[in-house]
Amino acid sequence: MTKNLLLVGCGKMGGALLQGWLDRDVNLRVTVIEPGAGFDRFAGLPNVAGVAALSALAADFQAEVVVFAVKPQVLGDITGGYSRFVTQDTVFLSIAAGKTIDFFQAHLGPEASIVRAMPNTPCAIGRGMTVLCANNKTSEEHSALCEVLMRAGGKVAWVATEQLMDAVTAVSGSGPAYVFQLIETMAEAGVRLGLSIDLALELARETVAGAGELARRATEPVSELRRAVTSPGGTTQAALDVLRAPNGIQPLFDRALRAAADRGRELAD
Ligand SMILES: NC(=O)c1ccc[n+]([C@@H]2O[C@H](COP(=O)([O-])OP(=O)(O)OC[C@H]3O[C@@H](n4cnc5c(N)ncnc54)[C@H](OP(=O)(O)O)[C@@H]3O)[C@@H](O)[C@H]2O)c1
Repeated sequence: MTKNLLLVGCGKMGGALLQGWLDRDVNLRVTVIEPGAGFDRFAGLPNVAGVAALSALAADFQAEVVVFAVKPQVLGDITGGYSRFVTQDTVFLSIAAGKTIDFFQAHLGPEASIVRAMPNTPCAIGRGMTVLCANNKTSEEHSALCEVLMRAGGKVAWVATEQLMDAVTAVSGSGPAYVFQLIETMAEAGVRLGLSIDLALELARETVAGAGELARRATEPVSELRRAVTSPGGTTQAALDVLRAPNGIQPLFDRALRAAADRGRELAD
C-alpha cells in the first residue's frame, strides 16, 4: 500500500534518501518541506510534491511517516509544530545526529512513535550503514517501514538501547572521516618514502577502496584476510608489528572513538 511520507529538509541527507527511495521504487507519496533549493531537482516527478514551509500544507494533511532530515540545531524550533501529525498510525523517523528520543517525546508528546537513525555519508551512493533504535510506542510495522526507508541508503542494523547510539556514532557515523584520514596518512607516509603526492594518494585511495570491497565481499573473517596477505617475516609483517604493538593503532583508536562517543553524549538533548 502506498504510504504518505512527509520529508522535513531536503539537503544533502534528505535529498540522498529521497533519491534512494525513487531509485528503488519504494511505494511512497512524498511531500517535502524545504525552504531552500534542495527540492528543485525533484520538482515535477510523479508522487513527489514540495512546499516551502509547514504552514503551506493543507489543514487536513496527514502522513504515515514524518522524516526529520534538518540540522539538529533547527529541530528545537520546529519539532513541536509537527505534533499535530501524532496518531497511532504515524511514525516519526529522525536522522539528526545527537537528538535523543526524549527530545522528540518532549516536543511531540508521550504517545508519539519515534525511531532514531544514525546513517553515514556513503548512504549518498547507496553504500551507507544506518543504525536504528525505537521507543516503546513503535509497532513492528513502523519499525519495518523505517528499515525499508533507510535500506535505500545501504545496510541497516538495530540497537535495543539508545545509549549505544553514541558508540554507533563513534564507529560508523563518524567512521568515513577516519577512513579519509587513513588515506591521507598512508599517502603522507608514502611521500616521506619518496613517492609523489599524486601517486601516493592514488595508491592509498585505491588500496583502501579495493581492500574495503574485498572485506565486504569476503565470507571469511577480516582477520583471515589480513593473515592471508601477511607472510611471516615479510614486508607486511614488518609494518603490522608496528601497528599492532601495545602503543600502536588499537590504543589510538580506543582514544579516538572514546572522544567521539563522549562528544556525542555532550551534544545530546
Ligand atoms: N551529512 C551527513 O553526513 C550526515 C550523517 C548522519 C546524519 N546526518 C544528519 O542529517 C541531518 C541533515 O544533514 P544534512 O547534511 O543533509 O544538512 P543540510 O544539507 O543542511 O540539509 C538540511 C536541509 O533542511 C533545510 N531546512 C532548514 N530549515 C528547515 C525547516 N524549518 N523545515 C524544513 N527544512 C528546513 C535546509 O534548507 P536551507 O539550506 O535553506 O537552510 C537544508 O536544505 C542532520 O540532522 C544531520 O545530523 C547527516
